[in-house]
Amino acid sequence: MANTEREARATAAVAAGLGQVTGFQEAGTGRPDMLDLDPAPLDHFLKAVRAEGDGLVLIWDDGLESRLPAVWLRDNCACRLCRHSDTMERLYLAIDAAPPVLAGAALLGEGHLLLRFADGHESRFDAGWLRQRMREIEQAHAAAAPHLWDARFAVPRFDHDEVMESEAGLGRWLEALLDCGIALVQNAPAEEGEMLSIIRRVQEPRETNFGRSFNVRSEPKPNSSAYTTIALEPHADLVNWAFPPDFQALFCIQNDAAGGGSIFVNAFSVADALYRISPGAFALLSRTPVGFRFQDEGCDIRHEAPVIELDREGRVRRLRFNNWLRERPLCTAEEMADWYAAYQALWGLIRDPGYQLRLRLAPGEMVVFDNVLCLHGREAYDPSSGGRHLQGCYMDRDWVKSRIRLSRRA
Ligand code: OGA
Ligand code: ZN
Ligand code: ZN
Repeated sequence: MANTEREARATAAVAAGLGQVTGFQEAGTGRPDMLDLDPAPLDHFLKAVRAEGDGLVLIWDDGLESRLPAVWLRDNCACRLCRHSDTMERLYLAIDAAPPVLAGAALLGEGHLLLRFADGHESRFDAGWLRQRMREIEQAHAAAAPHLWDARFAVPRFDHDEVMESEAGLGRWLEALLDCGIALVQNAPAEEGEMLSIIRRVQEPRETNFGRSFNVRSEPKPNSSAYTTIALEPHADLVNWAFPPDFQALFCIQNDAAGGGSIFVNAFSVADALYRISPGAFALLSRTPVGFRFQDEGCDIRHEAPVIELDREGRVRRLRFNNWLRERPLCTAEEMADWYAAYQALWGLIRDPGYQLRLRLAPGEMVVFDNVLCLHGREAYDPSSGGRHLQGCYMDRDWVKSRIRLSRRA
């Protein structure tokens, strides 16, 4: 940038009520290091800044104006005194500091920001990083609505080799999974252990009472309905845990018995439908605690919560719908008949073919679905007609989101 242009920018800051920062070392034309491994795109630069109240107004190249108080700017300084250069974590202790007062501002190189505080502390801010923070604040208020779908939804499919061999391919699969609540990986070798190779691209599976991974096939002494040949009504797994796992993977090794098709139901779609059709049933299911339980030789895991769990704003957080793990509704005798009627009203919607997405897993296909957004089930199958063998495991939303961010770093 030409000297005169830089001077003009610095002058703009002075004219707008702040002292000019002089005597600072401009580190070339590079971007200030914000100690942030997530690369913020440099899609906008600052044209000017002006003092306003106890802070600054940033004026962007596209006309956007962002107001930031001095206390925020001081708190987010990424210099080596304020952030640890190895951990990248905050060292600055706002509680011990005098209230920050801005003394000067200037624009650096490609429209980045240099600040000087009254105590002499200098802070540099990368324009791309600042703009990313502005987007974060904006998006924090727009709660992401769950993706609602029904029987006609086409499950997004991804090729095994792309997921395994490319960061971009892995990222695309996981983004679809987060967004739609279900995504399928196809053309994998239909071998035991392959599921773990794929899932370990993301995380070590979350261990539960079924182990780190499990085989879904008919067992002589089953400890779960899943290990029989009976039909499984659509359900969420492990609703007897306070924090059920966020995602479940089911990898198909063999599926040539008659029956055994897979069923998926969008939990938020049916909860919405119940609210519209029968608000009283919805209210009863969301306020009555219910016991859920799994017991075998090795554990007895119980949790009490309503079938429809709401957040503080009254939005559905999850459905605890799993008929074989369900114990009893914890309500008065007077309310019980109504509770059962409400439960069956919800169940009727879950059974409605208009909401049931059906697919048949083929060997070498792995479906991963959101255990919150999606209920899953299967048709009964006839073991005398052929074999059915799936492998399964669980994943966490935090790991999935983290892996998406890593895939973008590459
Ligand atoms: C499970 C399950 C479905 C199937 O293992 O949790 O629901 O298709 N299995 O066997
Ligand atoms: Zn600092
Ligand atoms: Zn299940």
